Amino acid sequence: MLNLIRKYNVQGPRYTSYPTVPYWDISAFSGKAWKETLQKSFVESNDKDGVSLYIHLPFCESMCTFCGCHKRITKRHEVEIPYISSVLKEWALYCDLFEEKPRIKELHLGGGTPTFFSPQHLEMLLKGIFRRAEIAEGHEFSFEGHPNNTTREHLQTLYDLGFKRVSFGVQDYSDKVQRAIHRVQPFENVKNVTEWSREIGYTSVGHDLIFGLPHQKIEDIEVTISKTRELLPDRLAFYSYAHVPWLKGIGQRGFKDEDLPGAEEKRRQYEFGKKLLTEAGYFEIGMDHFALKSDSLYKSFETQNLHRNFMGYTSSRTQLMIGLGASSISDSWYSFAQNVKSIEEYQHLVENDIIPIYRGHILTEEDLVIRRHILNLMCRLETSWEDPSLKFDELDLVLDHLKEMEIDGLIDTNYNQLNVTEAGRPFVRNVCMAFDLLLHRKAPEKRVFSMTI
Ligand SMILES: C[S@@+](CC[C@H](N)C(=O)[O-])C[C@H]1O[C@@H](n2cnc3c(N)ncnc32)[C@H](O)[C@@H]1O
Ligand code: SF4
Repeated sequence: MLNLIRKYNVQGPRYTSYPTVPYWDISAFSGKAWKETLQKSFVESNDKDGVSLYIHLPFCESMCTFCGCHKRITKRHEVEIPYISSVLKEWALYCDLFEEKPRIKELHLGGGTPTFFSPQHLEMLLKGIFRRAEIAEGHEFSFEGHPNNTTREHLQTLYDLGFKRVSFGVQDYSDKVQRAIHRVQPFENVKNVTEWSREIGYTSVGHDLIFGLPHQKIEDIEVTISKTRELLPDRLAFYSYAHVPWLKGIGQRGFKDEDLPGAEEKRRQYEFGKKLLTEAGYFEIGMDHFALKSDSLYKSFETQNLHRNFMGYTSSRTQLMIGLGASSISDSWYSFAQNVKSIEEYQHLVENDIIPIYRGHILTEEDLVIRRHILNLMCRLETSWEDPSLKFDELDLVLDHLKEMEIDGLIDTNYNQLNVTEAGRPFVRNVCMAFDLLLHRKAPEKRVFSMTI
């Protein structure tokens, strides 16, 4: 195993999209082309599957120094109302592009910290969104709550608005690690929010854990998972810490590179964590994600209906996802588009009736085929090119890249099918990289991705 880790621990994408953001062809992108693909996707899917909405709420009261998300640290809650007005305005700009009301199948509030906003303001935001939409049957609404500031009122208000899923950022329970990442968060807080969610009626409560954090040791993983077992969340993200200090405005600091566990230690932490989680009844449904068998994510995995997009793994498979808010990414299946990251610029553009996109990518025929293979691998750990629509010109090149992985026992291939083996699961990002034709054609010039292990 150690040899494999040394061999395959390279920089690599996490494949929440294909093409990955650094490979978007920005020169071929235009607002006009984006709107056309968006409208086409809407017509094809609104009546059938409904649409997904992602709303980015970027504020946090305090900076966690491990965090790779787009956020603004502030204690000034006056920012809430103007931001909500801009999101509603942006939503109106989108709705005006469509002939009929969007049917919302999936809605996710992410951040930043959605629970930075008061329950009343979140209600104002959501009622404003719903005013211009219909809610699809079997809808799935979810949000990210911070255990230190989620109140019972937040949970009740959002539940009454149709939210049945919540995930809480836990990361690690050790004091030493919590201090290093500047996120002191007592177990009591996590226990309270988890129990309140259950009492109110949430059907899926998730916790986010991370391994590979500064000063984190295998003993900390053991303590964290044993505390997690006490609360038994329905699903768990067990993320590999992504160290990306070169990204502007992220603020990963407050610890030294030497404080981070090395790749081999990190892999041991993952293997150990996975063993403990399996003993506790969790099933690994995809990269970094575990669920109890009673959770809808597990059921989607079993029925091969798992989907992956910028929100991570989801159980609904919608074709169109509209991202609202600063830095959000939209996905029409045929194209991606990202909003400006600066909150001021975002608000300024929206107030001037401009959809605040600043970059994107229109997928080529080849991208669309590769995208399906990468989704199959990430969601089902297998792919096949038996169906002629899944064949592509450079398949032989991809198979060449996969030869060594087959010799190393990470995958099995036969005539027109590939399966990732149990031993290959930790290397699924590497398997996807073999299919990533854009990466083969041009290696990144500087560090843009975290390490695969
Ligand atoms: C937007 S944040 C969480 C929501 C909320 N602000 C909180 O902190 O509880 C979503 C999750 O992303 C994960 N995350 C953030 N930065 C990460 C990094 N550098 N590596 C791995 N996971 C990360 C954390 O587990 C975090 O809980
Ligand atoms: S982990 Fe959550 S609270 Fe901490 S900085 Fe990131 S988004 Fe904000």
